[in-house]
Amino acid sequence: MIHPVILCGGSGTRLWPVSRKSYPKQFSPLMGEESLFQASLRRLSGPGFGAPIVLTNTEFRFIATEQLASLGISDGQVLIEPASRNTAPAVLCAALSLEATPEALMLVAPSDHVIADTDAFHAAVALGTQAAEAGRLVTFGIRPDRPETGYGYLELAHPGQSGAQPLERFVEKPCAAAAAEMLASGRFLWNAGIFLFRVCDILAAYEAHAPALIGPCRAALSEGRADLGFFRLGEAAFAACPDLSIDYAVMEKSDALSVVPFDGGWNDLGSWDAVWRELGPDADGLTTQGSVTAIDCSQSMLRSDDENMHLVGIGLKNIAAIAMRDAVLVANLDESQRVKEVVARLRTLN
Ligand code: GDD
Ligand code: MG
Repeated sequence: MIHPVILCGGSGTRLWPVSRKSYPKQFSPLMGEESLFQASLRRLSGPGFGAPIVLTNTEFRFIATEQLASLGISDGQVLIEPASRNTAPAVLCAALSLEATPEALMLVAPSDHVIADTDAFHAAVALGTQAAEAGRLVTFGIRPDRPETGYGYLELAHPGQSGAQPLERFVEKPCAAAAAEMLASGRFLWNAGIFLFRVCDILAAYEAHAPALIGPCRAALSEGRADLGFFRLGEAAFAACPDLSIDYAVMEKSDALSVVPFDGGWNDLGSWDAVWRELGPDADGLTTQGSVTAIDCSQSMLRSDDENMHLVGIGLKNIAAIAMRDAVLVANLDESQRVKEVVARLRTLN
């Protein structure tokens, strides 16, 4: 049985104004009726999967439990991080909470991306399971199509080979020049941000590569307390953890990594142009969502999230227009990565 461990403590600032500090993208219905968090839970349920462990922060705890309940999941465990320390402490706390079953498998997944083909994903997990049971830390690799600097890169020993295979190297968030070089070499896949391993193997990897996290995380668990169905990690102990992602803390340093190449419609929906691509623009390159009228618009996305706000675009090209009740974003679609600059300035509308 695999324990799904779902990370949903991020703030997704590049998808403002739909993604807010108090209600970030993973909990919003970005693509359809369901939130990305709910879709992630659904993908990691069914035969072979145990009850999910959800890691989030105080602010999102009720949204998380509401959305768990709406899917009829009553046996999930929600661990609350008292401070934002990125993914390395969160994953370690989940692993320590399972320490009594060292051979158990954990599937760590972000809550804010889409995977179009669930069956293909389950097949990839099955391939990864064999490698994880043999002691490997398993990553899932996506074929890159641009020199993205916001992802991790996985170097294959034998590019083109399918199935689980040992990884040469893990490079987290390279600079633009290195990303371009890795793309051109044809030897790299993107890290999907999904990991599969046994509890004992990830604990051994933290011992080896990030030992400073073990004491504080262990203390955060032992000093934690149950509270209204949540488990609150101990505040002082958790605050003593450095702010580190699992990618930098463990994955870049481990020599026990394997990768399963995955081609099942993965998209991390990091910005509005990624959402536009995922929605499937029409022949003019246009997507519309909600109460919208578009006349002679191309290469654009128009979206209204408020039924009382009708959004009209005329002759637009390369525009992302997102209307909410209290905020409207109008940006060049190909500059939508820059939305995070706005959020830093607009604290009040966060
Ligand atoms: N519980 C918890 N606590 N979750 C967190 C925290 C935290 O402090 N910080 C981030 N998360 C969640 C996010 O909500 C997201 O679901 C997931 O952890 C990954 O965090 P991101 O902040 O989105 O990571 P990233 O996108 O920069 O990089 C990761 O994902 C890429 C693919 O999307 C890395 O794994 C990269 O290597 C990878 O390519
Ligand atoms: Mg991300």
